[in-house]
Amino acid sequence: MFGRKSKFEIKTPDQFLLMRKAGLVVADVLARMQVEAVPGVTTDQLDRIAREMLQAAGAESSFLGYFGYPSVICASVNEEVVHAIPNPRPLQDGDILSVDFGAIVEGWNGDAAVTIEIGTAIEKQTALSKTTELSMWAGLAKAAAGNRLSDISHAVEKTIRNAGPYGILEEYGGHGIGTKMHMDPLVPNYGEPGHGPELVVGMALAIEPMATLGSRHVRTLEDDWTVVTTDGSRAAHWEHTVAITEEGPWVLTAHDGGAAYFQAHGIPSPAAKFAV
Ligand code: MF3
Ligand code: CO
Repeated sequence: MFGRKSKFEIKTPDQFLLMRKAGLVVADVLARMQVEAVPGVTTDQLDRIAREMLQAAGAESSFLGYFGYPSVICASVNEEVVHAIPNPRPLQDGDILSVDFGAIVEGWNGDAAVTIEIGTAIEKQTALSKTTELSMWAGLAKAAAGNRLSDISHAVEKTIRNAGPYGILEEYGGHGIGTKMHMDPLVPNYGEPGHGPELVVGMALAIEPMATLGSRHVRTLEDDWTVVTTDGSRAAHWEHTVAITEEGPWVLTAHDGGAAYFQAHGIPSPAAKFAV
């Protein structure tokens, strides 16, 4: 149909370069979190480090003040799935922690999350985290022009279902991102392929699967933020921001842009050109 405008925020290549700056701040902070998060450290301390890195980079927080959110990271431990506020409780050996972080550079957002095992790895948790991470990559690989939105959702779901009897959250999912952290479209982590809007060059999406060792059901604590599993089962959460470019997906919040994964899987991508 001629004259049709996209319902979504369409970025120019220059705007993607600004989003890349934000993405690299996020990548640096999350890499640092993976080093610092050890038994005895508190999530308050991790938040402090992230604040210092933001300031040093001359970037702003996507999270601080967002609907009144008080911190720059979300730090969700064990049965906390997402959106947990940092606190003074020391991390313990065997905990599983998700750190979610967003940065703004020149008005453009980047958003990503990693799951970290604290101290001793526990086989079941490692498998859950690995599966959730791989499901995110399967989704990122589908972030290509001409695909439909639910092709991403389906790739995420299939990867998790094929790996084991994990719970997949339905109340939360990925989202469009750009001049705001949360924009249309929502990106569910389940669904049949071939549905929803067509993906076009210039869209940017945050893809963020959340999976549990038990049921998919969650509730929000009295702090109005922390999302926990209702059965107390532990959870994992991974997230990256991806740009849909002429040449394929470019993962703005990964240092290598996704080059390693995309090359290994034969997926066209401009990532290698921009790897740092
Ligand atoms: N990255 C998170 C998400 O997309 C946002 C955290 S909510 C905030 O769900 F309030 F902490 F910003
Ligand atoms: Co997000």
